Amino acid sequence: MPKDLRTFISQVEEAYPDTYLKTSHEVDPRFELTGVLRKFQDANQFPMVLFEDVKGCEVPVLGNALGSRDRLALLFDTDSKGLARAYDERQGTKIPPEIVETGPVKEVVQTGDEIDVTKIANIVHCADDAGEYISSGVTVAKDPDNGAYNAGIYRIQVVGPNELRLDPGQYSHIWHLHHKHEQRDEPLEVAIVIGHYPSMYMASQYRGPLEVDEIEVAGGLAGEAVRMCPAETLDLMVPADAEIVIEGRMLPHVRKDEGPFGEFSWYLGPGHPAHVVEVTAVTRRADAIYQDVFNAHPEHNLIGMVGREANMLDKVRAVVPTVKSVCMPFSACCRFATYISIEKEYDGQGRNAALTALGADPFVKLAVIVDEDIDPYNETQVMWAVATRVRADKDVMIIPEAYTCELDPTAYSIEDDTKNGALNAKWIIDATKPVGLPFQKLADVPEDVWRNVDLAEFFPAGTGAGAARASDVQPQLVGAEQS
Ligand SMILES: Cc1cc2nc3c(=O)[nH]c(=O)nc-3n(C[C@H](O)[C@H](O)[C@H](O)COP(=O)(O)O)c2cc1C
Repeated sequence: MPKDLRTFISQVEEAYPDTYLKTSHEVDPRFELTGVLRKFQDANQFPMVLFEDVKGCEVPVLGNALGSRDRLALLFDTDSKGLARAYDERQGTKIPPEIVETGPVKEVVQTGDEIDVTKIANIVHCADDAGEYISSGVTVAKDPDNGAYNAGIYRIQVVGPNELRLDPGQYSHIWHLHHKHEQRDEPLEVAIVIGHYPSMYMASQYRGPLEVDEIEVAGGLAGEAVRMCPAETLDLMVPADAEIVIEGRMLPHVRKDEGPFGEFSWYLGPGHPAHVVEVTAVTRRADAIYQDVFNAHPEHNLIGMVGREANMLDKVRAVVPTVKSVCMPFSACCRFATYISIEKEYDGQGRNAALTALGADPFVKLAVIVDEDIDPYNETQVMWAVATRVRADKDVMIIPEAYTCELDPTAYSIEDDTKNGALNAKWIIDATKPVGLPFQKLADVPEDVWRNVDLAEFFPAGTGAGAARASDVQPQLVGAEQS
């Protein structure tokens, strides 16, 4: 059986049955659906929830499927700390798609007057979002020059039965493809894929060159070819095993207002003129599941994180082969900071790792480099290294006016730094110990002693009951599980 969304649901049911909940209680798509997930978030819980009865929606909605590192790790046969390494290994193995005539996504085909996107995509996620949004669509388009397929997730406002507004940033490949078509006064044909085996979502966050076919990357990440079949109304292939595909044309020379919309920064991303998509067909499974992504919520952060961590690992390894691991911490929205551990061989190497990291990803403002005894996924350890291994006058560096991200509320414009723009300072904290100088020794019980202590010998009635846990010592960061 080809991998699809249902394969993933079964994997979660088997591995983490307690994190998959279903409800047949009617839910209002305006704030209540995301309100349920927000309530769980408040208790630091991030279940995947199937809402079987969504008011005004013809299909059930699966919320927060990708809002946990542990669930993402199921895609890569690894644990939550192995995600970047596994993604990095697999992104190099590209598997071309298998071309088929048709597939489950064609069980219902709607064209012309039958099209009404609002009947399958009617969720209003956050207060002050401009309206109903598709936040989980992987937009797929083809490069007219070399035929390579590109995929990306962009916020998509639903403004009517057959009109969408889409907001790809200028740095994105889809913006570039649209621009190429616009110069020829032609629309860009797009397929918006909703619900599939999540390697499709992960591949959409691949950070490689434009020429690389991202359907082949999706195949490599999944370990099998993605089945593709012809679209109904476009000269484009679409994933045959998706839940829903919306076909459309991104019009040339047309921009209309879109937004605001809650962003990965957890602030409201401003509205502006955006690209317009005229929908030409909706195809879906007869029992389609609409997979939603909760914006301005951990799920939004985590989906974009894995490809970025893998890219960072790859780029830093080219300069510092002894890099150990890379974490885009949740506390920095999985975008604005990176914690990197290296096995430092010579002085200055920490700075080189940091400079590479800052250049590898425009969104990253802060690179903290630590030694290999620090776990970058443990923020308390990272901050301990900052507290005890950093002389701020020597080990902190600031680079002004780098290109970063407009969605960062502190980013500024070149003409006027009180106005929003894409520039910001980037900074480095080199929290590694010197190699060529003595440094104080760690104080700890010998490891071979404490690791070999059998607590049951000392406390036969049971260990741990009543013992202070980490959260009693210090409040944990609220957010998606980091371990
Ligand atoms: C949930 C989610 C929503 C996103 N929304 C946008 C968006 O509205 N605009 C944008 O430019 N990038 C957005 N991104 C980031 C792009 O999907 C990402 O940069 C992707 O790699 C772009 O692909 P491309 O460069 O191949 O076009 C989003 C990512 C996620 C995970």
